[in-house]
Amino acid sequence: RKKVTIQSLLTMRKNKIPITMLTAYDYPTGLACSSNPNVDITLVGDSLAQVCLGHSSTTQLTLGEMIHHTRAVARGTTHPLLVADMPFGTYHVSPSDAAKNAIRLIQEGLVDGVKLEGGSEIADTVRHLTRIGIPVMAHVGLLPQRHIAMSGYKVQGRSAEAAQRMVRDALALEEAGAFSVVVEAVPKELGTFITERLKIPTIGIGAGPGTNGQVLVWDDAMGTWPGHKAKFVRQFADLQTPRDTGVAAFADAVRDGSFPNDAESYAMDKDEWEKLQK
Ligand code: KIV
Ligand code: NA
Repeated sequence: RKKVTIQSLLTMRKNKIPITMLTAYDYPTGLACSSNPNVDITLVGDSLAQVCLGHSSTTQLTLGEMIHHTRAVARGTTHPLLVADMPFGTYHVSPSDAAKNAIRLIQEGLVDGVKLEGGSEIADTVRHLTRIGIPVMAHVGLLPQRHIAMSGYKVQGRSAEAAQRMVRDALALEEAGAFSVVVEAVPKELGTFITERLKIPTIGIGAGPGTNGQVLVWDDAMGTWPGHKAKFVRQFADLQTPRDTGVAAFADAVRDGSFPNDAESYAMDKDEWEKLQK
């Protein structure tokens, strides 16, 4: 498949072809996302902090850590559009500071575009980035970088008033130049309502079936660990069971002496071996 473009995502929205996005955090998961022509976008989400680096919150992730991982994902990425989350704090100081950090993500991190969490309050930053040619994906609804301020990871936009505010935010981000918007953890009615009011593609996570696309975190979708799964997660594979079975089989085979066998060992020429023993 040819490289996915912003234009091809708009065409998919127009033709009602659901857009697919998966997260990746390293070279092998980057390769995996590129292994199927139906994956449109690979996102190096700042969920990297928790699922890959063992931090307790995305707010602990640094720009340096993100760049280290995006470079690896980029080496494994072919056709999907490659987008990275701007870590907490890297786009909040000023639009020019945000531009400086986004440029690092593009030049050192080798990504095609960046994703920013927030509403109207970051519209000027989104406008600045898009004006200088940096593709920006917006992110509204549940904003994990603000989980302390929001008192936890909760469904957003349940009331008509909060929903209306979110629609206004999404429209402001579109107007500021965002090429797409992630909508996280909102009632399915609101996922559809926002999608109908925008011209850019919406990509939902816990936003129901009415958005233009769907995204899931790699580890949730592939079942790499037993941790808490949100209501909106569907596990499409169980990588944990074969992985743990493999670890146990290796450890058992070493312990009982059955690994390595003769076929798995090098041998010396007989003459040389005799000479050595003399
Ligand atoms: O960090 C992340 O993985 C994300 C997606 C879930 C949208 O932002
Ligand atoms: Na994120």
